[in-house]
Amino acid sequence: MSVEAGRTPGQTHRTAYDDETRARLAADSAAIIARYPQERSALLPMLHLVQSEDGYVSPRGIAFCASTLGLSTAEVSAVATFYTQYKRHPNGEYTVGVCTNTLCAVMGGDAIWEHLSDHLGVGHDETTDDGAITLERIECNAACDYAPVVMVNWEFFDNQTPDSAAGLTDALRAGRPVAPTRGADSVTSFKAMSRVLAGFDDGRADEGVGAGGPTVIGTKLAREKGWEAPSFDGDRSSATSEAGTGGATHQPQPGEEQSSADRPATTGGDVSAEAEQKKQASTDAKES
Ligand code: FES
Repeated sequence: MSVEAGRTPGQTHRTAYDDETRARLAADSAAIIARYPQERSALLPMLHLVQSEDGYVSPRGIAFCASTLGLSTAEVSAVATFYTQYKRHPNGEYTVGVCTNTLCAVMGGDAIWEHLSDHLGVGHDETTDDGAITLERIECNAACDYAPVVMVNWEFFDNQTPDSAAGLTDALRAGRPVAPTRGADSVTSFKAMSRVLAGFDDGRADEGVGAGGPTVIGTKLAREKGWEAPSFDGDRSSATSEAGTGGATHQPQPGEEQSSADRPATTGGDVSAEAEQKKQASTDAKES
């Protein structure tokens, strides 16, 4: 079976998978589908599976997902075009993502982006001529405590500078091993990473440090000082827990550390807790 010619420049996998590849993908798909109560729920990991084979969501990959899950190719394409992790043209061996979201940007992410774009000679979602690197601007990856952050195939490279990021890409293009700052000990290829995202364990989940010092400092301080999140009305599980343990949870009182109950207004648009209460009482009175 042939698939209609591709629609986007760079789409090269227009013909159907050969029998051997199709059988292998079918077996992997069956394992993915078995995780879900409804077959169509398997689409997201199956798109990663297709990327692990073709290096992007190819026309034949879309056709394979559609026929396997009983969907139309339009439905599969609609999903694949919604999420930026799904590539519509062949990706490089490594996706180098520079976080240019607010915090990383002000901490140097914009400067890293400009430098890398010049250094590699490519723009957003473009791939170097050697096929090694696809450069991307990326949104916050919840690693702001290590800003500015660069990701390589979704592995963290923390506290980067323009020079360190350029050195990182040089190493990748030269085939030298690079070590992420946290998480796995090394970086795999885009296709290998895509297979992990499809849900197939590569045995590396427990490598390296998961959460570093800056990430857990808040938890550490809270434990040292005996701080706990205050309960709120209707928090039955919290109330039950406190009753069962003698009610040891400390509630910050106005004026204490952690309390914002009596803080003054700090901006024109800000209101103190007292003013907020008066406003609410007035609103309640009008409505009653
Ligand atoms: S803003 Fe870059 S990781 Fe959050």
